[in-house]
Amino acid sequence: MIRRWTVVVDRDDLTETEVLHDELPESSDLSDCEVLLRVSHVGLTANNVTYGVIGDVIGYWNFFPAGGPCQGVIPLWGFADVVDSTVDALPAGTRVYGYLPMASHLVVRAKLTSAGFVDTSDHRAELPAVYNSYLVTDRDPAYDERLEDLQVLYRPLFLTSFLLADRLVDNDFHGARTVVISSASSKTAFGTAHCLKDKGVRLVGLTSPRNVEFTKSLGLYDTVLPYGASVDVEPSVYLDFSGSADVRSALHDRLGSGLVKDVSIGLTHQAAAQDARSEFFFAPDQLRKRTTDWGSDGLAQRFGEAWRGFTAQAGDRVAVVRHSGPEELVDVWQAVLAGKANPNTADVISF
Ligand SMILES: NC(=O)c1ccc[n+]([C@@H]2O[C@H](COP(=O)([O-])OP(=O)(O)OC[C@H]3O[C@@H](n4cnc5c(N)ncnc54)[C@H](OP(=O)(O)O)[C@@H]3O)[C@@H](O)[C@H]2O)c1
Repeated sequence: MIRRWTVVVDRDDLTETEVLHDELPESSDLSDCEVLLRVSHVGLTANNVTYGVIGDVIGYWNFFPAGGPCQGVIPLWGFADVVDSTVDALPAGTRVYGYLPMASHLVVRAKLTSAGFVDTSDHRAELPAVYNSYLVTDRDPAYDERLEDLQVLYRPLFLTSFLLADRLVDNDFHGARTVVISSASSKTAFGTAHCLKDKGVRLVGLTSPRNVEFTKSLGLYDTVLPYGASVDVEPSVYLDFSGSADVRSALHDRLGSGLVKDVSIGLTHQAAAQDARSEFFFAPDQLRKRTTDWGSDGLAQRFGEAWRGFTAQAGDRVAVVRHSGPEELVDVWQAVLAGKANPNTADVISF
């Protein structure tokens, strides 16, 4: 019997964690199309906290059901290896990248695709397709073994950065020539700034006082201001990664009709408040549009180019700190949840 561990959190109090242990089925117990994955390593950033904060709204708790009715498993992005399989095309030793639980193992029901497979388990059927797809590394043209850490940390975030920046360019910045970005120290925000640099707009980063120096050091923003400081009054687009009602209201008060677009992308401040003045950025819409405009290959080629440009610099911007096992995973979770993680380091956890 293989022993599995799973970290569950209390859905109503994300600081409450528990490590569960159970036994996995023997290989003879795997049903047709089922594959047993051993999680290798994952990244953990504020994005994963957001999955917990809005777990009920988007259905994030349904990806990896475990624990009691008030508990849930936070999804993470990372690599895993097939350790047992009923699918010939996915033999033991196959390495995959995708959406993984805070757990040592995962059983998926694999339906093969050209890039890997989709998990067709019943409990995932209603969930967004992008989260159910797994890439087999030796079929992924963007895969580079030396960049695995950067991939687990940045790839899901940078796709959003790329599509968000592209949508602004596609709309000629709605007539604005300044883009104001909150939680400017976050990876998704500075990935967006990376994509917008040299596109003819002024980039203003808003951040916590303690993160001003780091955010300046990125060299991506023309101006970095602490929350509460006044921005220049000029036609601007606001990209909100913080979800802070105070920051939003201060900007609307200061810029008035000069705030030509207010786009909501993140919730680093962990308050899920809706505001009619802001529109939610839904990355799959822009993904669909560009797939139509450029074709899948054209999109993959453009994203690949942007990704290579970003990863060439990302390693110098943020140092990777490695951790291992469920106890250290819980420690990292608590630090990221409490906003204690330092933006100049990023956490990768081996399971
Ligand atoms: N809509 C989408 O498709 C999509 C995709 C990817 C990411 N996102 C969102 O973008 C946001 C950033 O994610 P990320 O993974 O890039 O973040 P990250 O790199 O881990 O961001 C860290 C930064 O977030 C702020 N922060 C973190 N924890 C906080 C806390 N407890 N209280 C207050 N501020 C806190 C701080 O920035 P400051 O001091 O600069 O505020 C901190 O430096 C998340 O909300 C994520 O869900 C959305």
